[in-house]
Amino acid sequence: MQITILGGAGFLGARLAARLAQAGHLGDRAITGLTLFDLALPKAPQGAAFPIRCLAGDIADPTSVAAAIPQGTGLVVHLAAVVSAAAEADFDLGLRVNLHGTLAVLAACRALRTPPRVVFTSSVASFGGGQDVVLADDARQLPGNSYGAQKAMGELLLQDASRRGMLDAVSLRLPTVIVRPGRPNKAASSFVSSILREPLLGLQTSLPVPESFGVWICSPNRAIDWFLHAAAMDTGPLGIDRGINPPGLRVTAGQMLAALEAVGGPAARALVRAEPDAAIAAIVGGWPAEFAATRARRLGFSQQEDVETLLRAFIAEDLAATKAERGL
Ligand SMILES: NC(=O)c1ccc[n+]([C@@H]2O[C@H](COP(=O)([O-])OP(=O)(O)OC[C@H]3O[C@@H](n4cnc5c(N)ncnc54)[C@H](O)[C@@H]3O)[C@@H](O)[C@H]2O)c1
Repeated sequence: MQITILGGAGFLGARLAARLAQAGHLGDRAITGLTLFDLALPKAPQGAAFPIRCLAGDIADPTSVAAAIPQGTGLVVHLAAVVSAAAEADFDLGLRVNLHGTLAVLAACRALRTPPRVVFTSSVASFGGGQDVVLADDARQLPGNSYGAQKAMGELLLQDASRRGMLDAVSLRLPTVIVRPGRPNKAASSFVSSILREPLLGLQTSLPVPESFGVWICSPNRAIDWFLHAAAMDTGPLGIDRGINPPGLRVTAGQMLAALEAVGGPAARALVRAEPDAAIAAIVGGWPAEFAATRARRLGFSQQEDVETLLRAFIAEDLAATKAERGL
C-alpha cells in the first residue's frame, strides 16, 4: 500500500511516519511506499523497509498536492494546517491553507483511479459548548473561531466526496494533544503542553486559565493509534457520517499540575505560576471539555490513558530530544 502524509514534517506527521517505518504494514497490508509532504522538506524516518519520498510544497497548490498523491496511493493522511491562534490571527492564511488546501487534497484524490482512504484531522475546536457540557456524538458543530470553522468545512467536503465515491474519508476531531515536544507553538491551547513540558525542562511557565479549567486531551501515541485505526477500519458502518469524536480524556489544569507533581516532584510544580490571559481564555474557554465518544468506542477507537502515564511516556520518549533541540 502506498501512503501519503500531508503535513509530514509536523508534530503528529513525523510521529506517524516513524511508526509506519517501524511497523512496515498497515493492518494486514504491507506498506510499499511513503510520501511525506510539507512546506519545508520533511526528514525521512530511519529503518523503513520501503522507499520514502520527501517533498516540499504548499498544500494550497493543487499541482504540488497532485504530485504528492500519485496513482496507486491507497491512504492519504491530511494533517497540513494552520493551527488555532494563527488561523484566528490571519483569516486569509487560515482560509488558504485549511480550506483551499483541503480542496486541493480532494482534487488530487478524485484524479486517482481507485478512491483512497483519507484520514483528516479535524478538531474539538470545530465545536462550541464551553466548559459545562458533555457533547453527544450527534452534537452540532458551532465553532467559535475561524480554525474550527475551516475544519468543519473540510469535514463536510470530505463527507460529501465520500458519499459520491470520490474518496473514503474518516475525520477525527482530535482533542488537544499533549505533551507536545519542542517549543510552545501558536495554538491557543499551547499552554496545556507548556505547563507540563517546561517544568520538566527546568523552565518557568504560566497558566493563563484557572486551575478548574477543563480540557479534552489525548497523548500523541494515542492520536497515532487512532490514525492507524481510522486508516484500516471498515468504513461501511459509518454511513455518510464520517466525523468521529475519539475517546479522549477530560482533565482540569489542576489535575494536570497534580500529575506533574507526582511525576516530577514539588519543584517542577512550583515552576508553573498563575498568569490569567483573557485572550487565550476566551478562545479555549469556548471549546467543549468533554465528549461522550460512545460511537468511537463502539467503532474500536482505543481509550486515552491517564495523565501520569502520558507524562512518563513523554519523559521516556521525548524529553531528551526536546532538551537537545532547545540547547538545554
Ligand atoms: N496537536 C493538537 O493538539 C491538535 C489538536 C486538534 C487537531 N489537530 C490537527 O492535527 C493536525 C496535525 O497537528 P500537529 O500538531 O502535528 O500540527 P503541526 O503544526 O505540528 O503540523 C502541521 C504541519 O502542516 C504544515 N503546513 C502548514 N501550512 C502548510 C502549507 N501551506 N502547505 C504544506 N504544509 C503546511 C506545517 O508546516 C506543519 O508541519 C493539524 O491538522 C491540526 O489542526 C492537532
